[in-house]
Amino acid sequence: GSPAWALEQERFERGWAERLTVSAESRRAKPAVDPDAAAAFENEPDTDWTQARSRAALNAAIADWKPLPVAPLPTVEELLGTAAAAQPAWEAAGIEHRAKVLHAVARVMTADRFGTIATMRADARKSATEADPEVSEAIDFARYYADTFRVPAGVQANALGVVVVASPWNFPYAIPAGGVLAALAAGNAVVLKPAPETVQTAARLAQQLWDAGVPRDVFQFFPCPDGDVGKALLTDPRVGAIVLTGAWDTAKLFHSWRPRLRLYAETSGKNAMVITAQADRELAIKDLVKSAFGHAGQKCSAASLAILEAEVYDDPAFRRQLLDAAASLPVGPSTDPRSVITPVVKAPEGALKHALTTLDAGEEWLLEPKQVGDDPCLWSPGIKLGVRPGSAFHRAECFGPVLGLMRAASLAGAIDWQNAVDFGLTAGLHSLDPAEQAVWRDRVQAGNLYVNRPTTGAIVNRQPFGGWKKSSVGPGAKAGGPNYTFLFTRLSDSRETT
Ligand code: ALA
Repeated sequence: GSPAWALEQERFERGWAERLTVSAESRRAKPAVDPDAAAAFENEPDTDWTQARSRAALNAAIADWKPLPVAPLPTVEELLGTAAAAQPAWEAAGIEHRAKVLHAVARVMTADRFGTIATMRADARKSATEADPEVSEAIDFARYYADTFRVPAGVQANALGVVVVASPWNFPYAIPAGGVLAALAAGNAVVLKPAPETVQTAARLAQQLWDAGVPRDVFQFFPCPDGDVGKALLTDPRVGAIVLTGAWDTAKLFHSWRPRLRLYAETSGKNAMVITAQADRELAIKDLVKSAFGHAGQKCSAASLAILEAEVYDDPAFRRQLLDAAASLPVGPSTDPRSVITPVVKAPEGALKHALTTLDAGEEWLLEPKQVGDDPCLWSPGIKLGVRPGSAFHRAECFGPVLGLMRAASLAGAIDWQNAVDFGLTAGLHSLDPAEQAVWRDRVQAGNLYVNRPTTGAIVNRQPFGGWKKSSVGPGAKAGGPNYTFLFTRLSDSRETT
């Protein structure tokens, strides 16, 4: 029978079918990204750390860094009253005006890149090399949504009103920036409610938006605690949509509060990389280590499973090299520029604690993870051999620096195990054989498929990001892709022709 989540998903989708009914006319003139703008789009490059001036700029920003005072919170009534009052003028100003402001945001973000990295280092305990691509991605979001949100003639796309963005701690800058900027591009007022763990990073983003000229009432920063305030906010009819990156249960809770609210949620993953006998094994190890241990394994896109074809699993050279690659990653605080594995956001509990400290049936350590020094959040990387299909480690998201290896008899079996989880966010394949790539692409159930590359680090416009199955709630337009901004509009509501 269907798993329980599939029934919930069906309920969400039924709601969607009702909410997305559009006129015949708008279906013919489907809004789409401006193809010229998308073709011309250039991604912002990451910092070149080989340049002494880059390192000096970061050091200066770190020396200057101070937490921002966060203004006292307004009441929900004040918050929504001012946002709803300011929204119509922002919408009426037109996309050309809003695009100019979004380009100004990109410039402020570019100028403050090192200040933002210094903030994430202190606040999210991210290494500079992990924080840096988040800044590039946020700049990309600003420019991409500014340049590509165009409404074709004959279609009316009205803003929804106030959009709430509830953002996560693992990408504390790029993810809130993406939701906020898309909703602003489409003419909405936006309330950003950041994860309590990373309020400083979100506060820096908020300051950058205001400095660039986004009106204070149009974009509001609301770092309230999780809980009751959220309910007052989401059940208010002035709120037209919520963007959530977080737990499935949180999405369910929001849905129960207000079933007809547009809810766009990215909700976890349990991602695997398949490595076949036809892979370049050295490249696979490099990409696997990056996918499993980047930001200490706390990316929703991380690969915490590697499903190896038997020949690879049994290859002693492969094992040795993977072990060396993981064991040699420097483990330390985010304040030490040498650290690659930095502390996890909170002391391990639940599935992560189990994964770091327990071997289930059939499992043994290739590399046993250890808590390092006095910090209960700092763990060296771990690799488990012998993870069994259907086990806790196969199916549960852990969000930490631990990788499990499974031994599959064939590519077909490997794909079955890759699909045998409730989630479907990212999936990886390492194989140089085009026939294997084609089979895999055809069968694997995940939103973002990556061949011969890491499973993390989606690039705006090139790899729009979003999941399937229990990894996603909503109509499926992906962040950083051509349809995303249109999630924040009501299409042709006033132009029914029959
Ligand atoms: N967009 C993030 C990544 O691809 C989650 O790693």
